[in-house]
Amino acid sequence: MLVSAKEMLTKAKAGHYAVGQFNINNLEWTKSILLTAQELNSPVILGVSEGAGKYMCGFKTVAAMVSAMVDELNITVPVALHLDHGSYEGAKKCIEAGFSSVMFDGSHYPIEENIEKTKELVAICNEKGLSIEAEVGSIGGEEDGVIGAGEVADPDECKRIADLGVTMLAAGIGNIHGKYPENWAGLRFDTLAAIQEKTGAMPLVLHGGTGIPADMIKKAISLGVSKINVNTECQLSFAAATRAYIEAGKDLQGKGFDPRKLLAPGAQAICDTVKEKMELFGSVGKA
Ligand code: 13P
Repeated sequence: MLVSAKEMLTKAKAGHYAVGQFNINNLEWTKSILLTAQELNSPVILGVSEGAGKYMCGFKTVAAMVSAMVDELNITVPVALHLDHGSYEGAKKCIEAGFSSVMFDGSHYPIEENIEKTKELVAICNEKGLSIEAEVGSIGGEEDGVIGAGEVADPDECKRIADLGVTMLAAGIGNIHGKYPENWAGLRFDTLAAIQEKTGAMPLVLHGGTGIPADMIKKAISLGVSKINVNTECQLSFAAATRAYIEAGKDLQGKGFDPRKLLAPGAQAICDTVKEKMELFGSVGKA
């Protein structure tokens, strides 16, 4: 059964650790993340961007696949299926399709419009028992073609959105999606501290988890970050392992072309990356 992310994030905030959101792209991705979470007895959030949802043949297909997999693999740790950076319409579709959590990313709207739309979706999610993430201030880098500039959120705006009753709040603190540039200035801990002071017990979300140094991750958790999103890093490790398999000519040996063999090193690489992150975030054994 899929669960709302509320309980796992409330516990994480109180226990000073973070739950990882790992984005999924296909069956192998989902299987690797779920098996690793179960092995480590960690709660987990599966993230699905609108682009990835479209790629996987729609949100209904994703919800059916994930629910069935949780059941068939006997996954007993808490699993939330979460829309990542959703539009207003996308969020509604995911709620219909059986997701247990959605993000409404209204950060590109003027704040009043972001508040209006977030408020409407909070009411729907509350009624259905789903968790909802909102965002203030755009986060840098590229996600499905949307480019931001590593912006930094206004703590007062964060408070206004937090007060709408969202479950968790994403706020730009100089973080960027994808690989970080050489000259990246690092996370803005002054802003994070100010946001946490204004929003209190609200679990804060750190997007762009790929490539943030371990000491910065730990400091962010100590300042109230309870959910960390990782996407690119699994893609990079999957691609590197698949490349190594093919470059070693293994697809040409015996039945090495069988997708169950060809995709196995990449799937294992995702397991390894997820394990490393769960250990760093402190969610191991917290299911
Ligand atoms: P990365 O791809 O940089 O890990 O970011 C993931 C993310 O924030 C998804 O919302």
